[in-house]
Amino acid sequence: MTVNSLIESDRAHWIHPVSSWHDHEQRGVTVLRSGKGVYLTDIEGNELLDGFAGLWCVNVGYGHDSIVEAAAEQMRRLAYATGYFSFGSEPAILLAQKLADRAPGDLKHVYFGLGGSDAVDSAIRLIRYYYNITGRPAKKHMIALERGYHGSSSTGAGLTGLPAFHLHFDAPAPMQHHIAPPYPYRSDAASDVELIARSVADLRAKVEELGAENVAAFFAEPVIGSGGVIVPPKGWLSAMQATCRELDILFVVDEVITGFGRTGPLFACEHEGVTPDFMTVAKGLTAGYAPMGAMFMSDRIYRAIADRSAGQPIGHGQTYSGHPVSAAVALEVLRLYEEGGLLANSQAVGAYFGERLKTLLDHPLVGDVRSLGLLAGVELVTSKTAKTRPDAALNLPGHLARIGYDNKVIFRAFGDGIVGFAPPLCITRDETDLLIERFRASLDELLTIKEIRDAVD
Ligand SMILES: Cc1ncc(COP(=O)(O)O)c(C=O)c1O
Repeated sequence: MTVNSLIESDRAHWIHPVSSWHDHEQRGVTVLRSGKGVYLTDIEGNELLDGFAGLWCVNVGYGHDSIVEAAAEQMRRLAYATGYFSFGSEPAILLAQKLADRAPGDLKHVYFGLGGSDAVDSAIRLIRYYYNITGRPAKKHMIALERGYHGSSSTGAGLTGLPAFHLHFDAPAPMQHHIAPPYPYRSDAASDVELIARSVADLRAKVEELGAENVAAFFAEPVIGSGGVIVPPKGWLSAMQATCRELDILFVVDEVITGFGRTGPLFACEHEGVTPDFMTVAKGLTAGYAPMGAMFMSDRIYRAIADRSAGQPIGHGQTYSGHPVSAAVALEVLRLYEEGGLLANSQAVGAYFGERLKTLLDHPLVGDVRSLGLLAGVELVTSKTAKTRPDAALNLPGHLARIGYDNKVIFRAFGDGIVGFAPPLCITRDETDLLIERFRASLDELLTIKEIRDAVD
């Protein structure tokens, strides 16, 4: 098919995720064709440095033959094995074992799904089940952060704290609530300690308002991802865990982005020794080579459910739960993180990446730079002193994404002027320099647009 006919067919038939359908029709699709390492090549032959690892998922980089081999081998041997009727397959069992061995605390039980949204959905359903079966059916309310992202399932989208996921979707549900995020750049808290104390106080106040006996759980990402890569102060996650324990509500950590080396360690919980009751992962689990997500459940909760439900099927399942090909992919991806040196590289280059990003602070458009490992956000403003968000009418994110593409670099230009970076963990120092160089050039080029230049203080 020619490029133009692909664009026409796409326009006519493919509904793209989280997009303005109207604007996408006008713009047309950009067709990607191949990838190697940190580089993507589009159908016209342009080679682009992927500073966002697809959708913060291709943590190992593109084109790993060993993963292709693992998938092909498994497909040849046994393309599918159900997890229903007490069947299983070797790769899924091995993967569950390896993940449980590495997970924080007593997260010893793993439910496999297809991605992050259904991992969150599994947590929501099984938390309800847990409280019902343990005789506390009133505990139904769930709390999350404004700007948090927990997927777009019909229930998870309500925990997500982003307006686009609520508007016209009848979300959030009456049992879903949000508190303010720990947002250092936009907070007037005098110190990190105060910012953490405010989050703790907000959670307490919300639980008190609802009645602790009615609250089931608090959900949080260790670093807010889709809400603008907001890195909370060190100590925030453990303070929230302590508060949940004290208030007798479950603590669910959503590591869909932060898991698998994105912030340095295998799981971001490890930065603070946090041991949640539930943890959700996806993305880096298979590094995008096959769809898979997982929900970890603590041994305590698992036992409480298992021991009370003898003889009764727990009606939660999917045809592709524990898919053997995805599991075989995940096993090889895990090997690459550990034996292939990718975790070590993420830690080494992550620190360098953070330093290089800070050099952008002298740019007239850059208000804030924040990062943890190879996960970073750059917040663009039109006034550094007033921290003014770019006026939506300027369409700064749209211009920046286009200019970046022309400069052969991909990043995520969020609607409110925040730019997200999450390069593959195999990125080298030289590639990091190139990423920063191309991004700075793109920012400079933004200033050649008269309306944007005029808007800058
Ligand atoms: C923290 C978090 N949770 C859940 C999800 C949903 O995952 P998926 O898009 O695989 O359904 C995402 C996706 O970006 C995420 O970042």
